[in-house]
Amino acid sequence: MPISNPKRYTVTAALIYANGPIHIGHLAGCYVPADIYVRYLRSSGKDVAFISGTDEHGVPITIRAKKEGLTPQQVVDKYYEQIDASFKALGISFDIYSRTSKPVHHETSREIFRDLYDKKVFIEETTEQYYDETAQQFLADRYIVGTCPVCANPNAYGDQCERCGSTLSPLELKDPRSTLSGAKPVLKATKNWYLPLDKMQPDIEAYVNGHSEWKTNVFGQCQSWLKDGLKPRAMTRDLDWGIKVPVEDTEGKVLYVWFEAPIGYISATKDWLIQKNGTDEGWKKWWQPAADASEGETKLVHFIGKDNIVFHCIIFPAMLMAEGNYILADNVPANEFMNLEGDKISTSRNWAVWLHEYLEELPDKQDVLRYVLTANAPETKDSEFTWKDFQTRNNSELVGIYGNFINRAVVLTQKFCEGKVPQRGALQEIDQAALKDLAAFPQKIADAMENYRFREALTLIMDLARTGNKYLADTQPWHVIKTDPERVNTILNIALQISATLSIVSEPVLPFTAAKIQEQLGLSGKNWQDAGHADLLTPGQPVLEGKLLFEKIEDHVIEKQIQKLHDAKRLNELEGKTVAPVKSEIQYDDFSKMDIRIATILEAENVPKSKKLLKLRIDIGSEQRTVLSGISEHFKAEDVIGKKVLYLANLAPRKMMGMESHGMILMAEDRDGSLAFVQPGKDVWNGGTVN
Ligand code: 2FM
Ligand code: ZN
Repeated sequence: MPISNPKRYTVTAALIYANGPIHIGHLAGCYVPADIYVRYLRSSGKDVAFISGTDEHGVPITIRAKKEGLTPQQVVDKYYEQIDASFKALGISFDIYSRTSKPVHHETSREIFRDLYDKKVFIEETTEQYYDETAQQFLADRYIVGTCPVCANPNAYGDQCERCGSTLSPLELKDPRSTLSGAKPVLKATKNWYLPLDKMQPDIEAYVNGHSEWKTNVFGQCQSWLKDGLKPRAMTRDLDWGIKVPVEDTEGKVLYVWFEAPIGYISATKDWLIQKNGTDEGWKKWWQPAADASEGETKLVHFIGKDNIVFHCIIFPAMLMAEGNYILADNVPANEFMNLEGDKISTSRNWAVWLHEYLEELPDKQDVLRYVLTANAPETKDSEFTWKDFQTRNNSELVGIYGNFINRAVVLTQKFCEGKVPQRGALQEIDQAALKDLAAFPQKIADAMENYRFREALTLIMDLARTGNKYLADTQPWHVIKTDPERVNTILNIALQISATLSIVSEPVLPFTAAKIQEQLGLSGKNWQDAGHADLLTPGQPVLEGKLLFEKIEDHVIEKQIQKLHDAKRLNELEGKTVAPVKSEIQYDDFSKMDIRIATILEAENVPKSKKLLKLRIDIGSEQRTVLSGISEHFKAEDVIGKKVLYLANLAPRKMMGMESHGMILMAEDRDGSLAFVQPGKDVWNGGTVN
C-alpha cells in the first residue's frame, strides 16, 4: 500500500555508470523527472533528501577503460567530474552527488553483505564458469562472445544477443571466445554466493502486488518476472574491479555491481550528512522505519530508466527485506526510452545529444531542454526527440505563450503603471473568473506532480500561461488605457499576480526562468502554498524590466545540430570500415593486357533518367571516345570538364541506358565511399601510357 502521509521523502535517481557522458535519454528517463518531483516537494515544504551519484564498478567500467586505454580508476575519475558538472549546470538539484568508490560506500556495502552472510541468507554454490587462461581471469558475460544459438549471430555476448535480442547465458553460446585475448575459454570451478530469490518469491510478490498503483509499465514488467519464476542470483563475481567480498579466502572476487550499486543510495545519504555535519548521524531516518511512530514515515521513491526496473523493484527490495531493518520503495516511476531523430539513442554509435555539448553549444538554454524533455517525456511509452520539435516548442510555446505573457505583463506595467505593481480596483466578472481559474491551478498541477505525471503538470502550467494571455487579450489594457487608467491598474495587477503564481508552479520544470521572473517581480520566499493567491504581489512593489525570458531559435542553429548528428553517425560508420584485403595474385601478363592511359575530359553531361551516370567525351590522344561513368552522385558535369584522368582503354564496350560506353575512367574510392580523380603529377599528354 502506498504511504499516504509521509513525514519525509528519500528520492533517488539512478547511479549511472561513470563510463561516459550524460545524454538526453538519461535526462528524460530519469533525472529531469526526479528533479521536477523534488523541486515540487521542496516548494511544498516537504523534508526531502535527493540522492544520486555515479556507479563506478562493474564490467561497463572495465570495458570502457580498455577501449580508452585508461585504467578503470582514470575512467571513473574522468566521467565523474564531467557528469557531476553537467548535472549542476542543468540545475539538477541533488542534495548529494556521491560516488560508489568512496570508502563510506565500500564499508556500507560490505556491512550489508556480511550481515546477510552471517544470517545465512545466501546460498554458497560452486559452479563452472568460463575462464581465460591467457588473460588469467574469469570472464564476465560481456567478455565472452560466440555464436547465438537462436539466430546464429557470430558475435553474440555472453548475456545477450544484440541481433535477435535473446537473453543468453555464456554456456549457451557456440564457439565461445574471450574478448580479452581471443582465446577459447575453459570451464573452471568457482564458488559464489547467491541470493535465493526463488525462495523469497512469495514475500516479493506480496510487496509488488501491494503496489498496483505503480505505473503500468513498471508493474507489468515486475509481473512478468514473477510469472517466469525468480531464480537465485549470484551476489559475488569473479572480477578484480569492485568491492572486495568481506569473507575470508575470496581473493579475486568482488561484490556483484547490482548488489552494491543500489546500496550506493544509502551510502550516498551518509556521505551527504558527513559533508554537511561532519558525521553520518541521522542517516537512518531516511532509510529505516522510526522506532517511535511520532517520527513519522519516510517515503522512498526511486527514479530510474526502464532497463533498471527489475533491480529496483525486485532484487534491491529482496536484499533489504532479507536485511530486515529497511523501508522499501513506495514507488519506482520508471520511464520508457526516448529516441532521437527516428533512431534509438546509442552511445557506441554516437547517436545522442550529449548534455555537456548541449550546454556549451546552446548556452543559457537549460530550461528549454528541461521543457522539451518534459513535454515529450517517455512516461508511458517510448518518445522521440527531434531538433525540429525542439525548435517549435521553444519558438511557439516558450517564446510564443509563456515568455510572451510574462513579457507583456511586465512591459505594460512599465508603460502604464510606472513600473510598480498597481492597485486592484472593483472587479468585473472577467477578473473574478481569471482569479478563480488562477486559484484552482496549483492544486491541479500538484495532483499531477504527486502522481508522477509531469507531462500533464507541464500542460497545466502552460494552460495557466494561456489563461494569462487570454485574459490580457480579452481585457485589452492597451486600448482601455486611453479611457480608463484605473481599470488598467486592475487588469495589470491581476496579470502580475498570475505571473507570480506561474513562476512558482513552473519552477520545478523551469528553475532558471522562474528565478528570473521572481527577480523581476520582487517575489521571494514564496512557495507552493502561496501559489494561486491573488495577493502574492503587494501594490507599489517595483517591477523590473528584464531581458526576454526566451529567444527565438533560428533554423541555422537547428540545422547545425542535425548536421552534427549525421556527421557523428558517418564517422562512426567509418570506424568499423577496414581496408579491402589484397586480391589474389596475378602474373605480369595479366596486368600488361590492360591498356591504361592518360585522357582529358572534353565534354560532360547528365544522362537523362540515370541517377549515377555522366556521359563523357574524352580525348585519349589517338582519338575521342564516349564513356558513361558512374560518378554523377559525386561530381557535377560542369566540374569535371578539363580533368586529366586515368583511362582503361581496352575494356570491351558496354551498353548502358541505350548508349554504348567505351572503356572506363579509373577513380580512387575514399573510406567514406566518396570518389576522387587519380591524376598524373605533371601535365602528361593525352595517350601517355600507365604501366
Ligand atoms: O544503468 C546504470 O547505469 C546503472 N549503473 C544504474 C544503477 S542504479 C542503482 F542501482 F545504483
Ligand atoms: Zn541471436
